[in-house]
Amino acid sequence: MTGVLFVVVTAAGPTSRVATALLPAAMDRGWDVYCLATQQAVAVYPEAIRAIEETLGRPVRIDFHTTVGYSLPDPDAVIVAPATYNTINKWAAGIADTYVLTRLAEQTGRAIPIAVAPYVNTNFAANPVYRRSLDALQEAGIDVVNGPLEPHAPGGGDAPLDVFPWEPLLDSVAAKRGS
Ligand SMILES: Cc1cc2nc3c(=O)[nH]c(=O)nc-3n(C[C@H](O)[C@H](O)[C@H](O)COP(=O)(O)O)c2cc1C
Repeated sequence: MTGVLFVVVTAAGPTSRVATALLPAAMDRGWDVYCLATQQAVAVYPEAIRAIEETLGRPVRIDFHTTVGYSLPDPDAVIVAPATYNTINKWAAGIADTYVLTRLAEQTGRAIPIAVAPYVNTNFAANPVYRRSLDALQEAGIDVVNGPLEPHAPGGGDAPLDVFPWEPLLDSVAAKRGS
């Protein structure tokens, strides 16, 4: 086994493709994958969450062990993909007011490989706080992996989804783990 990989999904378009485009490739590389989802991801993409659970054969984690009754193993690597404007800014600011943000806050700075792929349109990306957040995450050792059309045009159709950087994310955490 390569190790335990947390895949964190948020309420952005590519979440609909995680079950097919990321998880089988991660498992092929030997990762023991656990998926964590924001509450908004579950609300906006319920079918995608069900597909992720079918692919992994285990529930998507959306709440603390005190609610669901069991803890996850500590991860050896984390992929946050897709990452919304909201999650990127709150994570970079150190906010831990949800399950996903709490898990991200406690893994950041542990010296495990973490890679994030934003899915943010150009309107969001023009807000100066977004650049500051990406800089802060990179300063914390997190690899920001942007697809070739990122930030993408608002309402740009499937083109940015089709070139979302699934394999580069896996390459990033593998390279940092030395596997
Ligand atoms: C249908 C739909 C699609 C969305 N797509 C995106 C997106 O691609 N990128 C993004 O940053 N926010 C997107 N949003 C807005 C986020 O869902 C919103 O900021 C939310 O608070 C993010 O919560 P989370 O970061 O906890 O998942 C979308 C919202 C909806 C309703």
